[in-house]
Amino acid sequence: MGTRSRWTCNVDTRQLRLRPTMTSDIGFVLSVEQDPACRPHITPWDRTQHEGAVRFPDFRHFIVEAGAGTQAVGFVILQGCRSRHRSVELKRMVIRTQGQGLGRHCLRQLKTMAFRDLHAHRFWLDVKALNTRAQAFYASEGFIEEGRLRESVRLTDEAGAGAYDSLVVMSLLDREYEARLAQGQEAD
Ligand SMILES: CC(C)(COP(=O)(O)OP(=O)(O)OC[C@H]1O[C@@H](n2cnc3c(N)ncnc32)[C@H](O)[C@@H]1OP(=O)(O)O)[C@@H](O)C(=O)NCCC(=O)NCCS
Repeated sequence: MGTRSRWTCNVDTRQLRLRPTMTSDIGFVLSVEQDPACRPHITPWDRTQHEGAVRFPDFRHFIVEAGAGTQAVGFVILQGCRSRHRSVELKRMVIRTQGQGLGRHCLRQLKTMAFRDLHAHRFWLDVKALNTRAQAFYASEGFIEEGRLRESVRLTDEAGAGAYDSLVVMSLLDREYEARLAQGQEAD
């Protein structure tokens, strides 16, 4: 994605934290999803879906905070946290203060959570084919493309009736993560 968020600010990426989302945070989450820099790349949920993800044990829903205070800069959702197949999905990741390294720090924390805390065998996601920036970002973090779900998401009406995008499925396996760790590719 080439568009910078209008919420840009200078933050220290080393001070990035994930804290569990509370019901009172959902207004913030909904507003981030509606931001023009984010909305084309995701399929926004309604309040009820986020409330379900906050409560349901198979999900982990987090607010991303950065800086010295408690400034919220985005949110992330994991799904499959109780999967018997140890296949954890990065369901959603949205950082509204973009292009300052927060996404990379956040993803590294999520990998640690997935592989160390949740004992994942596979950490996976899907990303819209048009979102080439995010694909390059995930690839640079070791995620391998598995395949494409052809024309599986409808584009907005502005793109024209009957316009679809494909979803690119990408994953990182536990042994690949361990190899990255051994090679110092996960260091901050
Ligand atoms: C994708 C997203 C999570 C990345 O977070 P971020 O904080 O912007 O990413 P970072 O600043 O850590 O940058 C990661 C890489 O993206 C690329 N990048 C950053 N800003 C960019 C820009 N404006 N244009 C193109 N590429 C850019 C760079 O390659 C960067 O790598 P580098 O650190 O080696 O330069 C965030 O941009 C976002 O929420 N986008 C909108 C929603 C979305 O696309 N979510 C993912 C859906 S699967």
